[in-house]
Amino acid sequence: GRVVVLYGGTSSEREVSLMSGKAVLASLEAQGVDVIGYDFAEGLPGLMALEPDRVFIALHGRGGEDGTLQGALELLGIPYTGSKVMASALGMDKMRTKRVWAAEGLPTPLSERLTLDTDWRALSERIGLPMVIKPVNEGSTLGLTIVRDESALKAAFEASLKFDHEVMAERFIEGEEYTVAVLDGQALPAIRVVAPGGFYDYEAKYFSDETRYLLPCGLDADAEQRLSTLSVQAFESIGCEGWGRVDVMRDHDGGFWLLEVNTSPGMTGHSLVPQAAHHVGIDFNALVCRVLATTLT
Ligand code: DAL
Ligand code: MG
Repeated sequence: GRVVVLYGGTSSEREVSLMSGKAVLASLEAQGVDVIGYDFAEGLPGLMALEPDRVFIALHGRGGEDGTLQGALELLGIPYTGSKVMASALGMDKMRTKRVWAAEGLPTPLSERLTLDTDWRALSERIGLPMVIKPVNEGSTLGLTIVRDESALKAAFEASLKFDHEVMAERFIEGEEYTVAVLDGQALPAIRVVAPGGFYDYEAKYFSDETRYLLPCGLDADAEQRLSTLSVQAFESIGCEGWGRVDVMRDHDGGFWLLEVNTSPGMTGHSLVPQAAHHVGIDFNALVCRVLATTLT
């Protein structure tokens, strides 16, 4: 039957999704699959008119990764890749994701929601500096600031508010940044990301040639095993299915801290899940097929 690859959409990660979607579409076309691409900015009726037998979701952010699209596809009876409604919605919300992890005893940095009434001095005392200020429901580090000085907190809050109605502060973990792809319930090898200037932001994610991806990641076997186990626990505790990617910090004492789960991870030329898959002999075409097969579960 016909596969539709959904990409684009209207979120602030639209440009990233266009890159992911075009790569996925080209791969399926090259493999002889009956496939067409559809920019989800055109809306749901246009998708329905294509009468898809299944949908490959290559959308990122709200209106594609956050459970709303997944709910529509459930009602239409159209199978789709990846996590279902609840896990997609929960995974988009970094603050409530962390509450579930904390309740499960999984390590995640101290955080709190910010409001117009937040007392910045008291916040600094509770969370400590530096701290991360970020939109609750966003991706690709958009609207995110690492704040080192209390006087910069309010401006950082206002910058995040441009992206979302909810903003959070999170303790900044000094150390190393890792990411673990999960495919069919199994962790792929961890990747350590070393960004130019130490900050893996939008530019470093999608455009910089200086960002380094360490694979193997450099951890000893025991530490990598603990990281893999923790990432799969993090994925499962949110109820994620099919595939995804868990972002984790490691502090200078070797402790791991869960940051977030991505239920529709990037599939661009710079993206992490394809690199991790490649390392274990799953090339991009095979990865796309494996993800597409998650529609069947
Ligand atoms: N939110 C981006 C697409 C990622 O996590 O890969
Ligand atoms: Mg993310």
